[in-house]
Amino acid sequence: MKKNILSFSLLLFICVKTFADEGMWLPQLLQALNEKEMKRMGLKINAADIYSISKSSLKDAIVSFGGFCTAEVISDQGLLLTNHHCGFDAIQNHSSVENNLIQKGFWAYQKEQELQNQGLFATFIERIEDVTKEITNNVTPSMTEKERQSQVDKNINQLKKDFKKENFEDILIRPFFDGNKYYLFVTKTYRDIRLVGAPPASIGNFGKDTDNWMWPRHTGDFSMFRIYADKNNNPAAFSADNVPYKPKRSLKISLDGLKEGDFTMVFGFPGRTNEYLTAAAVKQVMTVNDPAKIAIRAKALEVLNGFMRKDEKIKIQYAAKYAGIENAYKKWQGEVLGLHSTNAVQKKLSYEASFMQRVNANPVWKNSYGNLLANLSVAYKGIEPYSYARDYYNEITPRIELMGIAADMNSLVTAFIKDSSSYANRKEEVLAKLEETFKEYDASVDKKMFETLLELYVTKQQAVYISPMLQQSLNRQQQSYSAIASDVFGNTAFASLEKIKTILNQTPQEAVNAIKLDIAGNLYTDIFTSFATNVSPKLNEMQATINQLQRKYMQAQLDVFKEKNFYPDANSTLRVTYGNVKGYRARDAVSYDFYTYMDGIMEKYKPGDYEFDVPQKLIDLYNKKDFGQYAVNGRQPVCFIASNHTTGGNSGSPALDAYGNLVGLNFDRVWEGTMSDINYDASICRNIMVDIRYVLFIIDKYAEAKNLIAELQLVHPKKTVKKS
Ligand code: ARG
Ligand code: GLU
Repeated sequence: MKKNILSFSLLLFICVKTFADEGMWLPQLLQALNEKEMKRMGLKINAADIYSISKSSLKDAIVSFGGFCTAEVISDQGLLLTNHHCGFDAIQNHSSVENNLIQKGFWAYQKEQELQNQGLFATFIERIEDVTKEITNNVTPSMTEKERQSQVDKNINQLKKDFKKENFEDILIRPFFDGNKYYLFVTKTYRDIRLVGAPPASIGNFGKDTDNWMWPRHTGDFSMFRIYADKNNNPAAFSADNVPYKPKRSLKISLDGLKEGDFTMVFGFPGRTNEYLTAAAVKQVMTVNDPAKIAIRAKALEVLNGFMRKDEKIKIQYAAKYAGIENAYKKWQGEVLGLHSTNAVQKKLSYEASFMQRVNANPVWKNSYGNLLANLSVAYKGIEPYSYARDYYNEITPRIELMGIAADMNSLVTAFIKDSSSYANRKEEVLAKLEETFKEYDASVDKKMFETLLELYVTKQQAVYISPMLQQSLNRQQQSYSAIASDVFGNTAFASLEKIKTILNQTPQEAVNAIKLDIAGNLYTDIFTSFATNVSPKLNEMQATINQLQRKYMQAQLDVFKEKNFYPDANSTLRVTYGNVKGYRARDAVSYDFYTYMDGIMEKYKPGDYEFDVPQKLIDLYNKKDFGQYAVNGRQPVCFIASNHTTGGNSGSPALDAYGNLVGLNFDRVWEGTMSDINYDASICRNIMVDIRYVLFIIDKYAEAKNLIAELQLVHPKKTVKKS
């Protein structure tokens, strides 16, 4: 009997716990849409404690970090926590062969040691407002997509002009639900962001590419920064006179960890999802676009690998680029696998069938929405060759850096034609930019990249999309890509900063003449022009049709499935996602636990390996079990997983417990669940977080940065609850 009651309550527990998980919710709508469910799942605070504009709330501790990641304020002196891979570019910029911070890590034991980072910023969201009415004013259903966009842009500009704000605030207006809704964000951006701490990459990126997108994970993926403000606590350009920012809110840190089933939420800036695509569109991603991009990146990585393994300087120069290319390369592979294994296309088809059933049963809907899906299918079929050509162009031209340099140099010709001050200004900009580019540039790497990727560009595409100039040179040089590469790199001035400076030191007229004659400049122009003539116009026209249809389809879904709670696709705006800590069943007979411990680091440890080596000091601490207050029953937790729905941009986002205390740092998703950007599946989609106690252990015991620990507010919520 007792056993029956137990299993009954267990069943009830499971039913209650398997609620939502899916969704990236707007913080200002939590109270209306999610609060009840969140509390049912275990939340112990109110929606207004998460987002409020009248009192301090958790949102006041969250920032967009450089526009590509999330970070959170964890002390009353503006200390920021984010991922190691989010701070990586900054860490790399402060590194050299003699002083390699990627390898050694970095810790500021005093504020004077903190390092300035040009261009890095942290943006707070002050408040969010629905401005749909203002932005869709004078927009009519009969407008073409172009007409609509110009009316929307006009309304946005008008509203930005009229909107009352302080002069240190900015306004951002973004479309949601494919343009069926518009929200306005009042933001405050700080631009003096200094590097405070980072573990060595052997801890911060332990397992590197082999473990990336994988569970079980043992990565201490964190780094620390500090926001500096002027004397009034407002944003200011870098200055030695700036002082640590005093936040409206900083997160308390829980030392209690989570157990299976516990509520958790992630608060941050997810970049982009496509959850409302049709079956036809999903199929295209799986069979055309992802495979094209994967094939190109495989080649690019092969090229970089060849150089980076042999040359220490190149390894540092290309570290961030390599990680970026590899990251999406691996993700897309997981995405394709996951879309297959979860029958995403079939799932979308049955969703569409029930959509059509409801539409057909209602004459008004039938009239306006009856042909939507059929039209979308036609539109996706039509765009296919152009989207493939776009992927080739977008993947290849940025990888061959000479192409980007040529684009910058060519822009001087355009500026020169305009007037002399445009030329002078542009020259300053280009020089400043190229100064940075060449710090992380090696012409022999780029030459190999040029040779390798242009071969793909020519052989994997229809002839109509290929640059005629490249075609002709190939014909002249017996189809040899290496001969063309030698010709271009042997004769261009654009692969060397010295030569570029020599050109730009001449009179503007002489410089422009030289630029116009450059072989790389001309080739870039031809590749660009052939894309701009043969791909862009059709692509844009068809994309406009698709955008219009997707907007209507989104509206139709909102109308037809009234009982459903919809969330808008991610668009780099602030969101809350919530779920429960839990493992998952990956495939037949394979199930994953939800926590990892330092024992797992030692299991993976391979001395001398570039991915799985760890510092001796970490091993010593492990052997002595010197974990301080951060261990559980003598074992040091490292990472855990939960069913929070996250995506790129959520890196560095805080993982919070039911009380809003910081328990971890989001940094990845599991391999089987990387298709969640297109088809979230609660049974296998898990986000990966580093346990905050591992972060603290590294700061406290490994780095011995007691100064940083002293700034934090550490709490024991579970003990407090037990006592009361
Ligand atoms: N996959 C994670 C994300 O999408 C982590 C990437 C950084 N790590 C790496 N090995 N490249 O950003
Ligand atoms: N690592 C990702 C990022 O940089 C987060 C993982 C994901 O895509 O979910 O934002």
